[in-house]
Amino acid sequence: MEIEVSFLASKYSLTETINKVEQTTANIIHVDVMDGVFVPNKTMEVNDLINSLKNTTKKLDVHLMVKDVISYINSIANLKPFNITIHLELAKIINLNDIINLIKSKNIQVGLAINPETDVQEILPYLTNIDQVLIMSVHPGQGGQEFIREVLAKIEYLNTLKNQYNFKINIDGGINATTIEYLKNLYLDYVVSGSFICCSDDYQKQIDILQNKTKE
Ligand code: DX5
Ligand code: ZN
Repeated sequence: MEIEVSFLASKYSLTETINKVEQTTANIIHVDVMDGVFVPNKTMEVNDLINSLKNTTKKLDVHLMVKDVISYINSIANLKPFNITIHLELAKIINLNDIINLIKSKNIQVGLAINPETDVQEILPYLTNIDQVLIMSVHPGQGGQEFIREVLAKIEYLNTLKNQYNFKINIDGGINATTIEYLKNLYLDYVVSGSFICCSDDYQKQIDILQNKTKE
């Protein structure tokens, strides 16, 4: 299980935060993008985000918490992320398969995120067409929230489908030294952690704590 570092909440400036992540052994940066519409908060303009990340050597996994996905996908693709995740809940207002195919046409992997209150089975029609399922263990919108333990059942369910379909499993929100223990008997490919790492002084120490707990 690989740690993805989310820099949404940090005790340092954006530049310092990205530099500090750069110096760690983490391979992946989790890039949260919010529009103030799909979720109440808004992150910086995409161009500024692209500028902040353009020199990183880390792989980028983009998490779009936005409504107008097409324009965000077209601009964020300039960062050459390995994956872009959009929200399953958008299926109510747009054709998700069209968006999945748009991302794929750019040679970028596709993830679908599932909010805590959304039924995991709603993912089934898309599973053959996507690369990653992102289980939200907080309500999307801000860093530093408390882990919602009920979502663990969704991972258990996805684990039973792993042999039938080919997709990666990721979890996002509230992961720290305590909550990472809840994941012990589950299969996950990636784990996102934000404030536990970026609100500390020693990013590497926090990453090591998470990594070691998954090996116990
Ligand atoms: C929540 C974001 C998460 C979050 C993770 O909307 O998608 O990526 O920032 O941060 P922590 O680990 O602080 O919950
Ligand atoms: Zn996220």
